[in-house]
Amino acid sequence: MNVSLRIGVIGGAGWLGGAIANSMLNAGIVRSQHLSLSYRSAKPERFPSAFWTKDNQELVDRSDVVIISVRPQDWEAVSIDAKQKLLISVMAGIRISALRERHKTERVVRTLPNAAAEVSMSYTPWIASKAVQEHDRDIVKAIFSACGIQDEVKSERDIDYLTGFSGTGPAFPSLLASAMMEHAVGHGLSVDVARRAVVTLLEGTGRLLEKRQECPNDIVRAFVDYRGVTAAAIEEMRAAGLNEAVSRGLTVAFKRSESMGDTS
Ligand SMILES: NC(=O)c1ccc[n+]([C@@H]2O[C@H](COP(=O)([O-])OP(=O)(O)OC[C@H]3O[C@@H](n4cnc5c(N)ncnc54)[C@H](OP(=O)(O)O)[C@@H]3O)[C@@H](O)[C@H]2O)c1
Repeated sequence: MNVSLRIGVIGGAGWLGGAIANSMLNAGIVRSQHLSLSYRSAKPERFPSAFWTKDNQELVDRSDVVIISVRPQDWEAVSIDAKQKLLISVMAGIRISALRERHKTERVVRTLPNAAAEVSMSYTPWIASKAVQEHDRDIVKAIFSACGIQDEVKSERDIDYLTGFSGTGPAFPSLLASAMMEHAVGHGLSVDVARRAVVTLLEGTGRLLEKRQECPNDIVRAFVDYRGVTAAAIEEMRAAGLNEAVSRGLTVAFKRSESMGDTS
C-alpha cells in the first residue's frame, strides 16, 4: 500500500472514526502527517501529529480518500464536495445513491464495520459504486483489513442485513454473557470471578472457532452429542425459545436498518 496516500476522517473525534484512524496508523496505511481528522465539539488529544480541523471541506481538499464517520442523523449537516475523491462511508443506513448525489463523487464505497475496530477485530462488509476501480478496491481492502476482516458483498441489502448482525459488534455476545453473569452472581459467585469467567469464555470461543474453522453449529452439535451437563443446558435453553428470540431480534434489526435507508 502506498503510504503517501492522504486520508481524511470526518468525525475522527468519535468512537469508530478514531478506531479506524488508529488501525490505519498502526498498519502503516497512512503516515500521521498525511492523516486529516475533523471534529465538531472538542479537539481530542489523540493523534497529535495528524492534522485536525473543524472545517470538513478543508479536510476533503487535503485528502485523496475521505472516510465519513458521523452519526447518520448528523450527516445532514456534512455538506462537502468530494469530486474526484474516493469516498468511504461507515454510516449505518445511508445508501450509495444518496452519498453520490450529496457529495458529487461517483467513487463511493459503503461499509459497515463494528466497534471491535478498536482492537483491530472488526468484521467489515462493503460494497462499491460502479465507478470504483481496482486500485480503489485495494485501498478499501487495506483499510478494513487493518481494522480486522473485510468482505465485499453483492448488494446494499446485504449491508442493511449485516448492520443489525455484525454491525452490532460485541452487543449480542455480551447480551448472553450478561445473562450468564446475572445468573452466576445470583448463585453467590463474586462479580469479579463471574466477569473473568465469562470474558475468558468469550475470548476462548472466538479463538477456538477460528482455529478449528468450524461453524458454531458444529460445536453445539458436538456438545449435544456428548449428552452431558452442557447438552442438558442447551436443550433447556432451546426449549425456552432461545433460537426464536434471536431470530426475532435479528429480524427487527434488519427492518430498522432498512428503514433508515428509506429516509436518507
Ligand atoms: N460505533 C459502532 O459500533 C458502529 C458500528 C457500525 C457503524 N457505525 C457508524 O459509525 C458512525 C460513527 O459512529 P460512532 O459510534 O463513532 O459515533 P460517535 O462516537 O458519536 O462519533 C461521531 C463523531 O462525529 C462527530 N461529528 C458530528 N458531526 C460532525 C461534523 N459535522 N463534522 C465533524 N465531526 C462531526 C461527533 O462530534 P460530537 O463530539 O460533537 O458529537 C462525534 O465525535 C455512525 O454513522 C454509525 O452508524 C458505528
